[in-house]
Amino acid sequence: MTATTARVLACRPASIVFDAQDRAHISDEETRNAVEDGARLIRDGHCVAFPTETVYGLGANALEPSAVRKIFETKGRPSDNPLIVHVSSRDMLSSLLPPNYRISDHYETLIQAFWPGPLTLLFPAAPDIVPSVVTAGHPTVGVRMPAHPVARGLISLANLPIAAPSANSSGKPSPTRAGHVANDLGSRVPLVLDGGACDVGVESTVLDGLQSDGVLRILRPGGVSVECIQEALGPGGPRVLVHRRDFVDKTIEHAPTTPGMKYTHYSPSVPVVLLQTDNNVAHLQQESEPETMHVILSSLLPLASTRSTVGIMSLSDSNLRSSLPTVVNWVQFDIGPRAEPSIMARRLFDGLLTLEAKGVELIFVETISEDHEGLAIMNRLSKAASETRRVAM
Ligand code: TXA
Ligand code: MG
Repeated sequence: MTATTARVLACRPASIVFDAQDRAHISDEETRNAVEDGARLIRDGHCVAFPTETVYGLGANALEPSAVRKIFETKGRPSDNPLIVHVSSRDMLSSLLPPNYRISDHYETLIQAFWPGPLTLLFPAAPDIVPSVVTAGHPTVGVRMPAHPVARGLISLANLPIAAPSANSSGKPSPTRAGHVANDLGSRVPLVLDGGACDVGVESTVLDGLQSDGVLRILRPGGVSVECIQEALGPGGPRVLVHRRDFVDKTIEHAPTTPGMKYTHYSPSVPVVLLQTDNNVAHLQQESEPETMHVILSSLLPLASTRSTVGIMSLSDSNLRSSLPTVVNWVQFDIGPRAEPSIMARRLFDGLLTLEAKGVELIFVETISEDHEGLAIMNRLSKAASETRRVAM
């Protein structure tokens, strides 16, 4: 908790449109004033928190090392974790790249299909343009064009590329509402633009298509699913591999270019325990025997009889709900039906943060299969959780 509150300005995303030159036009006066305020702060070298379609970001002028350093200070982020640079136009992308670099056909296909949107692509970074504090000294820079009108409008009005990680203290769940940012960072950030709840709810997919073998490597699964990427590339397209599922890269493991490798990630202040009620989740504990919820609870909360308050994020069509013993007070958070993982993605961080704020001692989360958005969801959950238990039902 922070002592003083953040300045939060409401924005109406629907009042922002972009012309053929990618310039923002904002019809609602309150929204225009708020985004102009944010753009001024960015130009003056300060940080601004803003909504994207994935999660809220904490942005600063990507071309100004002293501004970027404020992001690391505000979040308590380790300096060896590189930042994504957000652009509002193709021209702005080109301005970050080495002059002789030609964008590959695969990247063109992906940009056509998913920009603006939740896909971050690695590009070679022009060393005299992109400061090394952004790339953490790597030769590449991750770039994306966000789809959220407030994010794209802020970049367009500032007329600067904006470096932005998620707007949370390092290690905590990512914020998907302005209130999450205000609760976490408070007055440490001069302005929070409030564009409502994020639609996607998990961060962008980070893809490296720069390797000489022509294989596309997903370093972090995210808002654009692997299935959608493969479909966009077509039947004769390149191989697409997912880090930790299909390949392991020792250098990625050591230099934490994949989030969660070296530091805690996505963790609320109370323990998160995954409940496996479905056999599709291949990499989780298959060998352990299923246990009743009663046994699981009493092993985790030996004093459960004193009426602990326990959070549970369960699927709306799950049998789990009918097998909850009444020895504790349950606070339920609905994560949508099993067949619609995009709903679970949207609610995931909100659920963790909402239950934490309600003072629960422990949060159970029901697992889902790693298909479509499920891959990004389980990637975040396996980093947030201390353990996985199989539930007998
Ligand atoms: O959706 C998102 O990507 C959000 C919103 C705000 O755009 N941003 C976000 O940023 O999730 P962050 O910093 O929380 O996670 C970005 C991750 C970093 O942890 C880093 O591992 C990876 O992207 N990344 C960034 N630049 C990279 C690079 N040059 N090489 C490899 N990985 C990189
Ligand atoms: Mg983050």
